[in-house]
Amino acid sequence: MARPNPKPFFLLAASLLALACPASCAAEPVLIPVAKDPATSLYTIHIRHGASHLIDLASPLLWSTCAADHLPAPFPCNSTACSHANAYRAPTCRIARHPCSRSRSRRKRRQCEAFPYNPLTGRCAAASLVHTRLVANTTDGRNPLRQVSVRAVGACAPRALLAPLPKHVAGVAGLADAALALPAQVAASQRVANRFTLCLPRRGDGVVVFGGGPLFLLPEPAAGDLTSTLAFAPLRARKGNPLYYIPVQGVAVNQAQVPLPARALATGGVALCTRVPYTALRPDVYRPLVDAFDAAVARNDAKVPAVPPFELCYRSSMLGNTRLGYAVPDVAFTLQGGKSWTFVGSSSMVDVDNQTACLAFLEMKGVKPGDPSSAAVIIGGFQMEDHLLQFDLEKKQLGFAKVPFFTACSNFNFTKS
Ligand SMILES: *[C@@H]1O[C@H](CO)[C@@H](O)[C@H](O)[C@H]1NC(C)=O
Ligand SMILES: *[C@@H]1O[C@H](CO)[C@@H](O)[C@H](O)[C@H]1NC(C)=O
Ligand SMILES: *[C@@H]1O[C@H](CO)[C@@H](O)[C@H](O)[C@H]1NC(C)=O
Ligand SMILES: *[C@@H]1O[C@H](CO)[C@@H](O)[C@H](O)[C@H]1NC(C)=O
Repeated sequence: MARPNPKPFFLLAASLLALACPASCAAEPVLIPVAKDPATSLYTIHIRHGASHLIDLASPLLWSTCAADHLPAPFPCNSTACSHANAYRAPTCRIARHPCSRSRSRRKRRQCEAFPYNPLTGRCAAASLVHTRLVANTTDGRNPLRQVSVRAVGACAPRALLAPLPKHVAGVAGLADAALALPAQVAASQRVANRFTLCLPRRGDGVVVFGGGPLFLLPEPAAGDLTSTLAFAPLRARKGNPLYYIPVQGVAVNQAQVPLPARALATGGVALCTRVPYTALRPDVYRPLVDAFDAAVARNDAKVPAVPPFELCYRSSMLGNTRLGYAVPDVAFTLQGGKSWTFVGSSSMVDVDNQTACLAFLEMKGVKPGDPSSAAVIIGGFQMEDHLLQFDLEKKQLGFAKVPFFTACSNFNFTKS
């Protein structure tokens, strides 16, 4: 098949777009529903027909099993896409090969390879880069508006790389701050800002919106534009991994600082990670937090034996209920400038059965107190659910807000307006 010379093709596409969309619709944010897989507590999105992708805040690539709608493309070894695809190699990836070490045919120019990895197992595979198109709707923040096709570069990986992801999942959509992760690719293709707003659901469909803009959840107009309620923290990177970090200065239970070892949080940092279902804390941070929480609840009469993996559990009927979940002390991460990210009962307690509720923070396993090679805190999916999280990769800041108690991330109005 003759491929059009990319430059005139692009100019033609751009001018057609300009005709169809004079100014106003050029930068409509892009909406994608987010589902929670009940078996694994992982989050997935649908971006191509019939192909669900795991979303991962710490993955730098978009990859899936090879499919008919993938256009294999000549990505030479010296192309920008090739160097972007190989900017990060998972430390667990033991393939020692250079991206251009293999040539399938002597006569052909050597083609770029990428090494996507499974975020759960750390296993990787050699994969070719392909052009693909994602289908999604644009949004005004209230409803889906119109279907668009988003050009993207992805890697097409062997099926074996998928295990043990949920059965319906065909690949991974990385949300890291990287050129071939989904946010930067949607930004480049749709000419929207390189930022995304994530609203992870506890059940039902939540949303991720690429490019920013307002966000409204039903019932309207009670909640208003939730992006106007965001507080901001700097988004930091640490050398050698693609996790998002925020500078947390302390942990508080009911506004009282939990006594932590000096520099415990700075050592290793506080990262956000959708791969872990519950926030995990290094032992030197976990133990003081659990002790402080237990003391603040002060309900030894309601305590029941631990239900692994959770340690601190209570008879749920003996904890009061509020609009914000169980009436338990708030847990908060304190940030610069007196701001804090607070977790109320609905974000700190999990019902393990119909009689028992447990503190939904876990101790990291196999990590020593103060181990500098481990994050101090990894904020997991359960704590992020029903929070609005805006990752602004241009301003390098995280906006965060709890979704009001009378609504939820699953209350977006998916009816086309
Ligand atoms: C890549 O290499 C080829 C041949 O070695 C050269 O013709 C081409 O200009 C190079 N492209 C870039 C982007 O450096
Ligand atoms: C766009 O929105 C409509 C209406 O909700 C929906 O039926 C359709 O599946 C959406 N398209 C995509 C690609 O999500
Ligand atoms: C709690 O769950 C058990 C089994 O899971 C069920 O038999 C029982 O009726 C439930 N109790 C209540 C109060 O819902
Ligand atoms: C959802 O949006 C549609 C289209 O704008 C609107 O007709 C409908 O009333 C909305 N649903 C609710 C519950 O507000």
